[in-house]
Formats: sequence, C-alpha cells, structure tokens
Amino acid sequence: MELHRDSPIGVFDSGVGGLTVLDECLASLPAEDFVYFGDTAFFPYGERTADELRDRSLKIVDWLLGQNVKLVVVACNSATAAALDYLQTQREVSIIGVMAPEAHAAVQASRSRRIGLLATEATVSSGSYERMVHAHDAGAEVTSVACPELAPAIQNGDEFDADLLELVRDYAAPLREADVDTAILGCTHYPMIERLLRRTLPGVALISSGVEIAREVRETLERKELLRAWGREGEYRFACSGDPAAFVESGSRFLQMPLGEVAQIDLDAVAAT
Ligand code: DGL
Repeated sequence: MELHRDSPIGVFDSGVGGLTVLDECLASLPAEDFVYFGDTAFFPYGERTADELRDRSLKIVDWLLGQNVKLVVVACNSATAAALDYLQTQREVSIIGVMAPEAHAAVQASRSRRIGLLATEATVSSGSYERMVHAHDAGAEVTSVACPELAPAIQNGDEFDADLLELVRDYAAPLREADVDTAILGCTHYPMIERLLRRTLPGVALISSGVEIAREVRETLERKELLRAWGREGEYRFACSGDPAAFVESGSRFLQMPLGEVAQIDLDAVAAT
C-alpha cells in the first residue's frame, strides 16, 4: 500500500478511554490529522473474549483504512492484549499498540522492582503485561488487579463521589499491600481519574499510555519519513458505533479540545459492503 505523509493517523478504543492517548497526541503532534473511533456499541471490551476483540478490532482497522490512514494506534489495552499481533499479521498498514511502552517505562521507573498493574479483566487474564515487564526485568515482581467496574464507571460519567473513591481504594489495596513503588494504569480510561488514583496510591509512580504512545507515534512517523512538517494546525474528527450524543457527553468531559460532530458508524454494515 502507498503511504502518504498527508494522511491522517487512526486511533481507536472501546469508547472514550483512548481520548487520553489522543489528547496527548494532539498536543505533541499538532500538525497531524487524526481520525478517532470509539466502539461504544461494543463497550466494555474488558468483558469480551479474545476472539470477539480480534474480530471487532479488525473491522475497526478496516474502517480506518477506508479513511486512508497512514498509521493505526490501538489506544486500548484490552484490544492490544487480545488482538495486536493478529491485526499486524492481517493488514499491511503499521499498527502500534499500547502496553509495550508502558511496561518498559514501569521497569525504568521502579527502584524496588515491585510493580503494580490495574487493568480490565481481559488485559489481566491475558498475562501480557507480566510477560512484557519480565522481558525487560525477569526479576521484577508484578501485582495485577482486575478492575471490572472501573472503566464502565468512568465511561458512564459516574460522579466523583464516595462510592467511586471506595471502589478505587478497594482495587488499589493489593498494590499497597505489595508495597509497589510504580503502578501501570493498564486501561486507557484510568488516567481520567488520575488524581483519585494518586491520592489512593501516595508516593507511587503512575505510568499511563498517553505520553508513552505519543512518543512512540512521533518516532515511528519520523523514522518512516511520514511525519508532517510543522507550521499547520492539524484536524481531527470522531466516529463511534453507539449513540453519538452519549459519546460527546462523556468525551467532552475529558478531551481538552472541542469534540465537534461525531459520526455514527455501523461496523457490521461497513464490513458487509
Ligand atoms: N480502555 C480500554 C482499555 O484500555 C478498556 C475499557 C473497556 O473495558 O472497554 O483496556
């Protein structure tokens, strides 16, 4: 396939979580254009099987390819854990996932070599983070906690109330017991409650996807000579599979930019054509 410097970058997640990655990319790659897809009709990915996630992710990549993207960013840990290698073998375009940069950053940051992981059930049960951390430090101790209620609470726009604080406290407790000094926020929704997490895990270095992936995207485009020259302000647009109004409502609470129009896409109908 022919790649063009002027083409947009495709980013996707199960919902609004990937906006924490997009937000960072918009700030550090201001000349680039972006197309974001939130698979809100299929949310939460954390409860899906690996087969479902592979199938769904491939449909999204194909829709993004229809938008002529030059690079795809899987801004979702659950989809990365289940589907990244499959997607990379199925399509020609370069596809970057989350996880590997965060695992590396966590190993670099941890002095005690005791690292915590908070993530969805799908991500924790895949064991991918442990493998990636151990690829960099075979002796690091990883304490993983599945947080099934956290991404839905964030995406549904639950209030930052005592219940949410209690929920976060419960999920963080095993990390405190294990005395980790570094914690991977292994779900792209979690940086949206970073202050709550910082308060619950005092003194623990929190590693999240945004900064790491933005760096990875920039380096990849630079090395492939696909980075756009500065001096223009890029455009970005959104699509989702569920209700666009709900996407705008939850998304605009977190993206530090206007969301604009959100298109609704039926991925199965697109795949059938
Ligand atoms: N944002 C997704 C991730 O990083 C998960 C949310 C979901 O369960 O859909 O894993």
